[in-house]
Amino acid sequence: MTRPTRTQPIPPIEVALGARTYRILITSDDPAPFGPFLRESLDASWAGRACRNALVVADSGSRPHVDPLLPALAAHGIEPRLHIVPAGEPSKSIEQAERLWEALAAMKADRHAAVVAVGGGVIGDLAGFAAATYARGLPLVMVPTTLLAMVDSAVGGKVGINLPQAKNIVGAFHQPAAVWIDTASLATLPVREFRCGLAEVVKYGVILDADFFADLERDVEPILAHDPATLGALIARCCALKAQVVSQDEREESGLRAVLNFGHTIGHAVESVAGYGGRYLHGEAVSIGMVLESTLAERLGWIGPDVTDRISALLQRFGLPTVLDGTEPAMLLEAMTRDKKNQHGAIRFVLPTRLGSVTLTDAASVENVLSVLATRRASPE
Ligand SMILES: NC(=O)c1ccc[n+]([C@@H]2O[C@H](COP(=O)([O-])OP(=O)(O)OC[C@H]3O[C@@H](n4cnc5c(N)ncnc54)[C@H](O)[C@@H]3O)[C@@H](O)[C@H]2O)c1
Ligand SMILES: [Zn+2]
Repeated sequence: MTRPTRTQPIPPIEVALGARTYRILITSDDPAPFGPFLRESLDASWAGRACRNALVVADSGSRPHVDPLLPALAAHGIEPRLHIVPAGEPSKSIEQAERLWEALAAMKADRHAAVVAVGGGVIGDLAGFAAATYARGLPLVMVPTTLLAMVDSAVGGKVGINLPQAKNIVGAFHQPAAVWIDTASLATLPVREFRCGLAEVVKYGVILDADFFADLERDVEPILAHDPATLGALIARCCALKAQVVSQDEREESGLRAVLNFGHTIGHAVESVAGYGGRYLHGEAVSIGMVLESTLAERLGWIGPDVTDRISALLQRFGLPTVLDGTEPAMLLEAMTRDKKNQHGAIRFVLPTRLGSVTLTDAASVENVLSVLATRRASPE
């Protein structure tokens, strides 16, 4: 990564989607450009200059980061109304979505009113879902405040809520009109959540960009120390990679967007067997999933052990778990066979063919998968 200094602003990143093209602006502790950026982005969206009010959605964790945004909105002719949602995954529910619809109705929102989602993936997915559905679609502004949301969920347009039966099962594709990222908001994020975001960061290196992976290996210390220039460059790189994938396969139709699922077939199974809100957070389960799926690629003869060793070593340096502790392989396999990505009964995986490149495959046999799930890989260090 070339590291811009604090005085060197990061150029906006464009997510090229024809008429739905939008920009991601990354700053560090500088709220001043927020108002003009927002006004310009909304003016360019279907809301047009008629956007005069906004529902600002946050939870208790992201609430402190809303304060600098409210006066900026008001100064640009957009009257804000604040709506606080309980923190946590259970808020991705139809009940919370209904409260948002009611708040929009109470402010007499028309199609020009904006929804501003300030928070992690839960707030982005929930508020984005309300924006996608109210009046058949309101302009959405994403202000991600967790690392995971900055590098992943705020970009790409997937929004949704959960049912007790399945995560993210009710949702829509609804691209934001703009994404505003202030890396300084990460200062209050619990370290465990920060590390979870790093799991998704490592994923981008493995699936798309070996040079980026090597940069991460070099920059572990400044990243863990929250060096603003390093973090800004890292988030920009991830957003650019995700933007590239999303602009080529917006609705997950060609299979390209599926590359983002590396580590997630096993990761989702680990999460679901441990129970959501259980032992593993999403990023931790994905960290283990990436190491095991890379081991699976080794079994298929696609890569040598050196690739898995590098992935595992980097994740460990970021303080992430890389081995399963005692979950039954058979239970994980059962959870995987329920995965919605599977076709014709085979379990689909996204596996590395080298560092920086992956392929979607159903070539892994059940025996291979079971043996990998039983692996207790020795630490490379
Ligand atoms: N739409 C997508 O493409 C996509 C992609 C990946 C994940 N997701 C979804 O994202 C969700 C996970 O997102 P997440 O990991 O950001 O979790 P989250 O939104 O639950 O945030 C984690 C915790 O951090 C708190 N928090 C947020 N910002 C903070 C800050 N700056 N300082 C202190 N605390 C803060 C929150 O209140 C919460 O308690 C899941 O529901 C997942 O399904 C969606
Ligand atoms: Zn993920």
